[in-house]
Amino acid sequence: MTYNRKLLSKYPVSKYLDLIDQYPGIEIYTYASADILQLCREIITEYGEQKLEIYHKDVLISLINRSRAKLKNAPLSEDIKGLYEMDFSRIIKDIQMNTHKEGFYLYPQDKFMKDIGVCSLRIIPAGAQKINVYRLPRRFLFSNGILQFFRGTIMAMLTLKGFQPIYDMHTDSHDPHLISEWHYDGWVRFYKRVAELLKVNSNIIGIYGIGWPFDPQLEHISPRQAYLRKLVTENGGYLFYIGPSMNAIKSSTFKSEKRRSLYESGKYIPKEYMVVWPRKSLIAWANGSC
Ligand SMILES: CC(C)(COP(=O)(O)OP(=O)(O)OC[C@H]1O[C@@H](n2cnc3c(N)ncnc32)[C@H](O)[C@@H]1OP(=O)(O)O)[C@@H](O)C(=O)NCCC(=O)NCCS
Repeated sequence: MTYNRKLLSKYPVSKYLDLIDQYPGIEIYTYASADILQLCREIITEYGEQKLEIYHKDVLISLINRSRAKLKNAPLSEDIKGLYEMDFSRIIKDIQMNTHKEGFYLYPQDKFMKDIGVCSLRIIPAGAQKINVYRLPRRFLFSNGILQFFRGTIMAMLTLKGFQPIYDMHTDSHDPHLISEWHYDGWVRFYKRVAELLKVNSNIIGIYGIGWPFDPQLEHISPRQAYLRKLVTENGGYLFYIGPSMNAIKSSTFKSEKRRSLYESGKYIPKEYMVVWPRKSLIAWANGSC
């Protein structure tokens, strides 16, 4: 790795790691603090984007080294620790093999931010999804009329007893292991891991996710994906309408010829739905009592 000593002495990687340590405990995974963004702007101005990308690779490796040591005594199952190690190896291999094209290791690249999240232990790899501690976005209360507003408010007030902290789930489509777990058994394994995490972290109120895969339309269009919604709604979880989005169109039509042609002929508009699985019912399901 060609590197610049002057850059490193002015912007030590350890300083970058300290800034990451100052991030709020409850934050969206795409959060980058003003201090970090300022530091990146300075590096770009003085050395250019290419050098910042090399610097970010160094940041990822340093985070991994630090996190490997931290994980030894972390209150996480060996299963989750193994998933971390798998992700660390993938990230290191991607760096060594130069897998990603120019611009990958820069903010606000989504996959880079997911890698930063995993390497700093702010994101937990849990198999079919990656999760981080966040808050339930209140916009769902206003996205489908008065009935959803009341249903959502009652759920938040009486069942969840608040909007945070809650696990927020994400698909990381540049992680081959995660994609290989995208089937019924993989999702069952994922939710069981979440249940174990909830048992240890009694302050977390449950888990939620937003995406086109939870849309009830898939029952007819892509019946293979219908389990994603049913697994939650048939076991004590909730479903809320969010609405169409460019992201839903892009993601839903990415891999499926059928969905793409239905969308192009106006017969299918991908819509986002939110699933919420409160801690109590998720743990009950995982314990086999639901
Ligand atoms: C989410 C994702 C990983 C699911 O992939 P998947 O399990 O293969 O499911 P898909 O419904 O997308 O399947 C794609 C094609 O493979 C086929 N397929 C999927 N599983 C199959 C199986 N077990 N046997 C045979 N064919 C299968 C499907 O029939 C589909 O083609 P078609 O719809 O034209 O018939 C994939 O759609 C993806 O990478 N999307 C982009 C990122 C994304 O959407 N992220 C989620 C945001 S919330």
